[in-house]
This record gives sequence, C-alpha cells and structure tokens, in this order.
Amino acid sequence: MDNWQWRTPPVFFGWGCTHSELLSFLSFRGKRWAVCMGSHFLQREWSHWQEVAHDYGLEVEAFVVRGGEPTVPQVDELTMRVKAYQPDGIVGIGGGTVLDTAKAVAAMVVHPGSVGDYLEEVGTKKLFSQPLPWVGVPTTAGTGSESTKNSVIIVPEKRVKRSLRHDMLWSQGVFLDPALTLSQPWEVTVNAGLDAFTHLLEAAVSKKFHPFALALADRFLGDIIEGLSCLKEHPEDREAREKLLVASNAGGMALANGGLGSVHGFAATLGGMTDIPHGRVCGIILDHVVEVNRRYTERYEMLALVKHHGGSEGFVHFLSQWKKMLGVDTDFRRWNLALDPVEIVRLSTSSSMKANPADVPASDWIAMWKNLL
Ligand SMILES: [Fe+2]
Repeated sequence: MDNWQWRTPPVFFGWGCTHSELLSFLSFRGKRWAVCMGSHFLQREWSHWQEVAHDYGLEVEAFVVRGGEPTVPQVDELTMRVKAYQPDGIVGIGGGTVLDTAKAVAAMVVHPGSVGDYLEEVGTKKLFSQPLPWVGVPTTAGTGSESTKNSVIIVPEKRVKRSLRHDMLWSQGVFLDPALTLSQPWEVTVNAGLDAFTHLLEAAVSKKFHPFALALADRFLGDIIEGLSCLKEHPEDREAREKLLVASNAGGMALANGGLGSVHGFAATLGGMTDIPHGRVCGIILDHVVEVNRRYTERYEMLALVKHHGGSEGFVHFLSQWKKMLGVDTDFRRWNLALDPVEIVRLSTSSSMKANPADVPASDWIAMWKNLL
C-alpha cells in the first residue's frame, strides 16, 4: 500500500444545528461574517437566522450567489464585494454552487488577480496565502463540497470546468442540518443524490485507492438508493433526508481523499459545454462508464453492493433499472446537443479522468459517446 493521509474538516450533524451550534461555533472564530447563500435560503431562512446571529454578537451580511454553476467572472465579482465588506470569515449556506463559490472567494480575497489564474490546467499561478476561514452548510445532499478542498469553476471562454484545489481550502467546520434539505424539489434531490452516489462509487475504485473511501462506499451507497427511492414518494421523509445528507458528506470526504474517475472527467467537459445539471450528467453516464471500465478492471468487484448484484455485470444492470425507476434519462438525445464524441473524449483531461480505475482506449470512450448523443 502506498503512503496516504485522510483529511476532513470537523463535521456537526443535527436537526436545527445551523442555529445555536453553528452560531456559537462562529462566535469563537470571528465577529464579522460574509454569508454566501442561494436565493432559497435568502427567502426562507435569512431574516430569522440573521436575528439569531445578532443575539450571538455576530455581524453578518448576505451575499447572494446566483443559480447555475459558478463561473470565473461570477467568483471574481463576488470576491470584490466580499473584500469590500472586510469579513473575519465566510459562511457558505446552499447547494454545491454556493459552497464552491464561498470556498473560492475565501481564497481569492487574499490573492491578487482572477480565480482563473489559479485553476488547474488553465491557470499558471498557485495559491500561496492562507484563505479566510470558511464554514460549509449544505442545503442539498449532493456535491459534498463542504468536505472537499477544491472548488469547481466554469471558464466560459474555454468552455471547460476546472478546479481551484489546495490543502489550504478545507473548511473550518461543516454543519449538516437535514431541516435545510426538506423543501428541495424532486429534480434537485435526485440530481444531487446521483452526484453523491457517483462520488462514493468513483472514489472507492479510483486509481488513488484509499481504504477509507471503499469503507464509506460500502456503508453509504445503499443509503442513497434507499433514500432516493423513499423521497420520490415521500419528499418530507425525515429519515431519508438524514441518510442522503450524511451520505453526500461521506461522498465529499471520499472524493477529496480518494479521487474520482471518468464519470466526473466527462461531466467536467459537458459542464463547460451545456447547461445540463452536473448530477444529471453523472446519472446519465454512470452505468455506461462502469460498463466500459469493467472490461479493463476488476476493481468494482471489491464493493459490497457489486457483490450483492452478482458482480459488475449485474451491477450495471441494476444501475440502469434503478435509473429508470428514478426517471433518469438513459442518454442525451432529447437535448440535441450536437456535440462531437471525438471532441468530448479529446477535451476530457481533468484530474478525475486520470484517476479512472482503468486505462481505457479512447476508441471505447468514443463508441460510448456515439451511443449516448
Ligand atoms: Fe460531482
């Protein structure tokens, strides 16, 4: 076994923990906090949360992050506004976009230039200064971004998504409050859940093999399957919301320490070229990627869920049936994407692609994409 480390921020879980526990946590670490949030939290929670924060002696200011995935110009613009506020730290309360934005802004307020200058592959600079403290509060159960050390950002002029990644980007704390996820609509819930499922699966079998990532996949993949099946019929089921939120956080830890694979390698490429939500792209291509990979690796056979389905062939069959039950598309035909399979494969060079468990010939990936488009 190669040398390894396992790093995660401290994680707090509980119904309502984003009031007293979070605010107490913040009050020991600074007085003035920039709170990055989505419109959902702004409309439903902010005015009450702000009042309670004042009771804890905190100064808080709302910075709304617009929907869609974060882009370089959006992060740069928000960085300027947050910098002008001069906070002691940043709180990100929202889905993956909000958390990735908060994380990137925490770094960029203490660095010169644009965030694009520091992204993997497209930038030439490295982060050199300790970011502002930031705290992650997810309101969707998907990206696990609250427990990762990278922020995924779209570079519009290159039509790619790339990571701002550094060991200094871990959050100071993670607060998992299932109450914040209760009102998420089914589309958001299922896309996020498929993303979390993919994180756990890809990290468990990645080339950067990490034994803890495999353990987390064995423990939590089943919770995502059960949780999504339940929430499709009962969107306010508290136990299912708990399961998904904890599993998605486990997925974040797993990917941050164990890496990802080709689903995310291709999703990064499509994310720069289309507006299809990230989790939906992962869900659509997941079983197809496993089908290709399993011809070149036996790593999937380590997973308890794969063993339960009689091996990787049965697992692929299960995935395609499960997707049907969830209402997830089997291909991209209804989007009429007009994309070239050869170009998708050529552009998919991110770090996730390099951690794929098998070295698959480009011709196999191209054939897969021809079937999907
Ligand atoms: Fe993802």
